[in-house]
Amino acid sequence: EGVNIRGKIKLDSCFQNTQPPNDHSPISRKEFVRFLLATPTKSELRCQGLNFSGADLSRLDLRYINFKMANLSRCNLTQANLCCSNLERADLSGANLDSGNLQGVKMLCSNAEGASLRGCNFEDPSGLKANLEGANLKGVDMEGSQMTGINLRVATLKNAKLKNCNLRGATLAGTDLENCDLSGCDLQEANLRGSNVKGAIFEEMLTPLHMSQSVR
Ligand SMILES: *[C@@H]1O[C@H](CO)[C@@H](O)[C@H](O)[C@H]1NC(C)=O
Ligand SMILES: *[C@@H]1O[C@H](CO)[C@@H](O)[C@H](O)[C@H]1NC(C)=O
Ligand SMILES: *[C@@H]1O[C@H](CO)[C@@H](O)[C@H](O)[C@H]1NC(C)=O
Repeated sequence: EGVNIRGKIKLDSCFQNTQPPNDHSPISRKEFVRFLLATPTKSELRCQGLNFSGADLSRLDLRYINFKMANLSRCNLTQANLCCSNLERADLSGANLDSGNLQGVKMLCSNAEGASLRGCNFEDPSGLKANLEGANLKGVDMEGSQMTGINLRVATLKNAKLKNCNLRGATLAGTDLENCDLSGCDLQEANLRGSNVKGAIFEEMLTPLHMSQSVR
């Protein structure tokens, strides 16, 4: 509620300004919910390039939305349903996506530096794999997330916390895992070829890591 009030103040002060409101000023939860309620579930709502920076989008049904290149930095996306949404090249830096549904999400080349993704579900039972190829995931916290089959090829997970994650069959080829905490993870059949594991923590692994998984 605090976030809503703050968002409103921001909007009001924007309209009171002598200068015309900036087109790039972020969209508030209130405005956005109005759009959502007027849209059928599976329509790919066109949010490409829009600015949501700092908005409270927590607990909303955001399935199938096109957020390509949108600015979602520092957004509250906790418990949001982002199933099958497109977040390619979106700015998710510092956002909170804890307990989110990220099944089949497209996050290629997105910037989620410093974001929190604890207890997220990336596993689509229908087999559609979450794609985070080339994403900037520096310093993210993904503790306890379900990521079977996820594609993290050439992504940067430097200083990230991936404790107790399910990474079975994940693609981590060419991934930068420098100083990444992977303790308690299940890396069965994960592909770590050409990944940078300098300083990475592999303690209390659920399944032993085979040389063949990490050799080029
Ligand atoms: C989006 O909104 C933020 C916060 O008001 C602002 O700093 C930024 O310049 C805006 N524009 C873009 C393109 O992100
Ligand atoms: C998104 O908005 C933030 C301000 O909240 C700004 O610092 C950042 O540069 C913006 N990102 C992009 C990609 O424009
Ligand atoms: C984010 O949203 C959740 C759920 O609505 C709320 O409990 C939490 O306080 C919010 N966090 C921030 C930083 O506003």
